[in-house]
Amino acid sequence: MAAANGKVALITGANRGIGYETAKDLGLQGITVILGVRDIESGQEAANKLQGLGIDAAVVHYDAAKPETAGLVAEYIKQHFGKLDILVNNAGVLKENLIGVNNSSTVSSTVLHETFEINLFAVIELTQKLLPLIKLASAGRIVNLSSILASLTLHSMADSPIEPAKGFAYNASKTALNAYTVHLAHELKNTNIKINAAHPGWVKTQLGGEHAPMEVEDSSKTSVRLATLNQDGESGGFFHENDALPW
Ligand SMILES: NC(=O)c1ccc[n+]([C@@H]2O[C@H](COP(=O)([O-])OP(=O)(O)OC[C@H]3O[C@@H](n4cnc5c(N)ncnc54)[C@H](OP(=O)(O)O)[C@@H]3O)[C@@H](O)[C@H]2O)c1
Repeated sequence: MAAANGKVALITGANRGIGYETAKDLGLQGITVILGVRDIESGQEAANKLQGLGIDAAVVHYDAAKPETAGLVAEYIKQHFGKLDILVNNAGVLKENLIGVNNSSTVSSTVLHETFEINLFAVIELTQKLLPLIKLASAGRIVNLSSILASLTLHSMADSPIEPAKGFAYNASKTALNAYTVHLAHELKNTNIKINAAHPGWVKTQLGGEHAPMEVEDSSKTSVRLATLNQDGESGGFFHENDALPW
């Protein structure tokens, strides 16, 4: 049984994949976890599993494609918890083939808009709505699920392992998310809040696909580390596990 430690975390897209593992591993540390999900039924199933492990887990409706739900999430957390210690912006979409593809000259406006809507604009909307509650926590932490595919440095290197993976909408949405991470970290530099971008690894999930080398059970390490940084921890960085990644 995980003893509640008074901290509260919201993890978006926590009904499955990396988000679920992150909620589980934060919950096992005694942190109360709120699963932000667009499908309440599958969110409740995930919460039931977590509760079966002794985790204090709750569910709130959050649909990144519906910006008005960000305000409702903030209202729910304010009413039930009064503050938010940890925000993990985990929900994300991939709407292209990535491997061996460069669609820069063909990517559709629809794919670009839908990808940026979920992977960038919704994250900004939710973060802005929740910041007043994060400021009420003693040591707020924000983790943005980016990707190594956000790295312009690595994309520009001919011999880099990510060089062939050029799905433009996904990659650029994560590069822009990294930009938001750096800008918000700068704005918050004189507060107790830390915000970082996380690359979880290439993970066997619906998004990562069956050829990914990392099992989902191992995928939460980076998010959990950044969500639980102590006062000396980094802010405004981009990490995989303990390693800084190039922008
Ligand atoms: N897997 C990888 O190799 C990898 C690598 C680098 C970065 N990442 C990033 O890690 C994060 C999690 O990825 P994953 O691999 O765990 O993906 P996943 O298994 O496909 O899960 C995606 C999660 O996002 C949720 N989601 C999608 N659209 C949403 C919306 N409109 N509103 C609310 N939630 C929504 C999904 O909810 P539903 O169940 O309702 O669809 C699901 O919970 C993403 O940001 C991804 O870009 C993944």
